[in-house]
Amino acid sequence: MTTPTHKPLVFSGMQPNGNLHLGNYLGALKNWVKMQQDMNCIYCVVDMHALTTWVDPKELTQSIREVTAAYIAAGVDPAKTILFNQSQVHEHAELAWIFNCVARMGWLNRMTQFKEKAGKNRENSSVGLFVYPDLMAADILAYKATHVPVGEDQKQHLELARDIAQKFNNDYNVPDYFPLPDPVITGPATRVMSLRDGSKKMSKSDESDYSRINLTDDADAIVQKIRKARTDPNPLPDSEKGFEGRPEAENLINIYAALADGTREQAIARFAGRQFSGFKNELAELTVSKISPITSEMRRLLGDPAEIDRILKAGAHKARAICAPIVAEVKRMTGLVG
Ligand code: TYM
Repeated sequence: MTTPTHKPLVFSGMQPNGNLHLGNYLGALKNWVKMQQDMNCIYCVVDMHALTTWVDPKELTQSIREVTAAYIAAGVDPAKTILFNQSQVHEHAELAWIFNCVARMGWLNRMTQFKEKAGKNRENSSVGLFVYPDLMAADILAYKATHVPVGEDQKQHLELARDIAQKFNNDYNVPDYFPLPDPVITGPATRVMSLRDGSKKMSKSDESDYSRINLTDDADAIVQKIRKARTDPNPLPDSEKGFEGRPEAENLINIYAALADGTREQAIARFAGRQFSGFKNELAELTVSKISPITSEMRRLLGDPAEIDRILKAGAHKARAICAPIVAEVKRMTGLVG
């Protein structure tokens, strides 16, 4: 656990590599907005992470703005919270290099996300994809952040960040210098699954657009995708136990619960014994009512890209004011600077 010597500070980020989807929103972004109310928060568009797999330069620039617009449209308030893109603050890259030298090959070899992303093509993956979790640890620890709101899939990366922090503190004999950041994985939808296959995570990289709801989808698309979502022939169960072997039903109930700001139990009780058709109508209506305002606000914000760039620049300035002294201290601790 984080020691009380560290002031609570929230840090999180998303990659600008295509459209954000409902999984990003329910697993992370929605919680970010809540945490902003009573904690200091730093939210980052992790553009250097996006380079770990090929991305067209023009698309990357656009995607950085789109993700920024999505954060703001969902409720991240740049007046209260620091909002910036990673590559504007070079301390992240500097600290990541130091962490490349702290982390062990064996630790990174265990990362399941690398294995999934590299697949059979491991030898041909970028080195950046392999050391990606070191950069993520640097993002967090450059600020000595203590809380990291993420979806379930980032849990292992957070454990690695804790291992890096602990090893750095031990190697350089600076007990408690870096906090051991806690993952904050909360809500009924910490792992939103594909609408086409309840055993697969909802993901930007899925070939089928029907597998996910994008934050840029219009109301018609949302309704269509939910209507076509895979289900099974039975009515919805009336208890937790009834979801065994029914991942698609469980996923849709979790999505409903998260969007309704309720619990899983409440959602189960509400739809117990009902047919999917009626449930899907209500789910579609709820999804449209929650997502469409975000989509239209995103569109409005994207009409003024200069304003988005200005927000990111101002955020980067504030971010540097916090992390530059920390990274300078790390450089002294490691002997890079006398
Ligand atoms: P990324 O860009 O893949 O995803 C952004 C956030 O969305 C969550 N998420 C999901 N949650 C629930 N269900 C899903 N299907 C789903 N898909 C994605 C992710 O858990 C994440 O919280 N490595 C990170 C980005 C990163 C970061 C950081 C995060 C870089 N530096 C520092 C926190 C702190 C990533 O690739 O997330």
